[in-house]
Amino acid sequence: MSRQLFVTTALPYANGHFHIGHIMEYIQADIWVRFQRMQGAQVHFVGADDAHGAPIMIAADKVGKTPQQFVADIAAGRKPYLDGFHISFDHWSSTDSPENHELAQSIYLALKAQGLIDVRPIEQFFDPDKGMFLADRFIKGECPKCGAKDQYGDSCEVCGAVYAPTELKNPYSALSGATPVLKTSDHYFFKLSDPRCFNFLEQWTQDGKLQPAVSKKIKEWFTKDENGEGGLGDWDISRDAPYFGIEIPGAPGKYFYVWLDAPIGYLASLKGYFAAGGPLNKYGEQRSFDEFMADPAVEQVHFIGKDITYFHTLFWPAMLQFSGRKLPTQVNVHGFLTVNNGEKMSKSRGTGLDPLKYLSLGMNAEWLRYYIAAKLNANVEDVDFNKDDFMARVNSDLVGKYINIASRAAGFIAKRFGGQLTASIGDDGRALLGTLQAGAAGVAELYEARELGKVLREIMLLADRVNEYVDANKPWELAKQEGMDARLQEVCTVCIEAFRLLSIYLKPVLPALVGNVEAFLKVAPMTFADAAQLLGAHTIGEYKHLMQRVDVKMLDALFEPPPAPVIELPKPGESTKAPMPPEGEALALGRPGGEEIAPTITIDDFVKVDLRIAKIVNAEHVEGSTKLLRLTLDVGEGRHRNVFSGIKEAYQPEQLIGKLTVMVANLAPRKMKFGVSEGMVLAASHTDEKANPGVYVLEPFPGAEPGMRIR
Ligand code: MSP
Ligand code: ZN
Repeated sequence: MSRQLFVTTALPYANGHFHIGHIMEYIQADIWVRFQRMQGAQVHFVGADDAHGAPIMIAADKVGKTPQQFVADIAAGRKPYLDGFHISFDHWSSTDSPENHELAQSIYLALKAQGLIDVRPIEQFFDPDKGMFLADRFIKGECPKCGAKDQYGDSCEVCGAVYAPTELKNPYSALSGATPVLKTSDHYFFKLSDPRCFNFLEQWTQDGKLQPAVSKKIKEWFTKDENGEGGLGDWDISRDAPYFGIEIPGAPGKYFYVWLDAPIGYLASLKGYFAAGGPLNKYGEQRSFDEFMADPAVEQVHFIGKDITYFHTLFWPAMLQFSGRKLPTQVNVHGFLTVNNGEKMSKSRGTGLDPLKYLSLGMNAEWLRYYIAAKLNANVEDVDFNKDDFMARVNSDLVGKYINIASRAAGFIAKRFGGQLTASIGDDGRALLGTLQAGAAGVAELYEARELGKVLREIMLLADRVNEYVDANKPWELAKQEGMDARLQEVCTVCIEAFRLLSIYLKPVLPALVGNVEAFLKVAPMTFADAAQLLGAHTIGEYKHLMQRVDVKMLDALFEPPPAPVIELPKPGESTKAPMPPEGEALALGRPGGEEIAPTITIDDFVKVDLRIAKIVNAEHVEGSTKLLRLTLDVGEGRHRNVFSGIKEAYQPEQLIGKLTVMVANLAPRKMKFGVSEGMVLAASHTDEKANPGVYVLEPFPGAEPGMRIR
């Protein structure tokens, strides 16, 4: 039976699009997965959106969406990134899936049955306006040490002090500005301090399966300091309503803390993949999800970033162990990607290198895959994306050393020998090809160990040998000499055979390119086993250029900052009250209106949205709603439409009646509390409406008529 692998990457928060740090993680895992598949392993590679938690709930509320809708909208934007960078997930799900609700509850109940759940009252800040408990990051106030204003509830950015939110002076809720009050509520704890957990984790984290640096770090977490502080404490796994999450069975109004159900999302996504019949179609798998997971031969492999090591090497294995489930076989921790000399990349905004911009500039996704692979090793080290380094690796190594081998030999084989390779290869050629074939084992070992930088160095050394052979034999000169046809065919054949072997070794990194190589060589999809044989007297296809060099202009364009928003600075003597955004937040470069420009779309995407001029025939208040106006719109259809619009704060109904505006006319009708809304009226606002209030309905220039399309 071939090796059976269940592989995951960390589940990204569904509060934003992918950034380059995510893409780096996916590239690392995808290369490893593709390598395993080429070795004949059965691999299930799954991901999912991490949907739950207070930040997503609050972000959704801010833009007037349900958390479910908010998360679905983010999920809808994932595909261009994953396809664009050739990431070969088998399945993508969400931690809000029915599978995850069910699995999280059953794992919790198993832990409870083991006596590992405890309930204790906790005193915590509560926002009386919002009616919710506040996580540390939603409380601000003056630092108890240095007195700096507007510091977060856990630490001071000015003096670096760490404290409890209750120590802040003049605390206020970052959500409503209200003064928080202390309130007591029951919280549920996973008793990690129980000797069973402690002993299990001490052994599991130190038995050599984790990276050495990771085991060492965990040892520190285990150890209490001289004051008896630190060590492994119990873990608070509950949050009070309102919370976007999974309800705790038998505990009304209590939800699992997002980090409890997030890793369970790995299992839920795999379960969803089984339910969709994926493994049956791909591998003829007859077993159920439960049977598959119960097979001790199945290896569970996680790829994660260093910031979430704690969750994956302590909480997660403990949850699995004490609910009687399979434990991770590997937790592979990588460092962070920085861009152009270690410039810190914000985790949430991921400034620096926009993956979709990269693609839309026509930059080749496999340049990035190659470059990232060249920089990665099996350690927890940060990786810097450096422009000059990128150019050098791609142009000198990838194109200069590898692609050029094919381009130098293919033309002669096609023009002079009708595409025919020869089986008669002399000693020098055999020796070279033998060396390349003998490299397969070493290359495979390095892939297995995730030493990707070393893999590529090894392959480039082999490519150097081939280029030495080309330079020694000069096919372009042989081509001019009388009676040297056989030698020319032989030398070019050796080059093509060598190129094929190098292509096998590079295939996990360059899947699309090597797909084109296979078409050009007229061979079936290659695996590592194919390195053992040569093509012999085989006829190859026509060579088409396989890969361009990077043009420095592309890199310049990639890093060109987006245009800065125009901020009107007050003239001397003028009041500074109105237009200045608070705390410089909206001044941040590249975030006009408080948010970055959305990823590029094509004109085809745009025309899907049918925008029409609409006449506001009537406008009225909606009883029971503080936000909505009911609009009656005429878009020239011979009937009127009913549309609810969240503009009550900004307009009196009388101001709107008789005016023209713009509406989305082909939006699916939405059932709301007050009736069905048959479209949406366009209005402008700042993302942070609290700090920058104002909603502005669009109005066309005079002359436009109801029903006209906007294009
Ligand atoms: N939702 C959690 C993970 C839950 S896993 C059950 C989370 N999400 S995240 O979107 O913030 O991060 C997802 C992954 O991207 C993590 O592995 C994280 O370490 C990784 N990265 C985030 N920024 C990164 C870089 N700048 N560089 C490399 N990886 C980075 O954490
Ligand atoms: Zn301070």
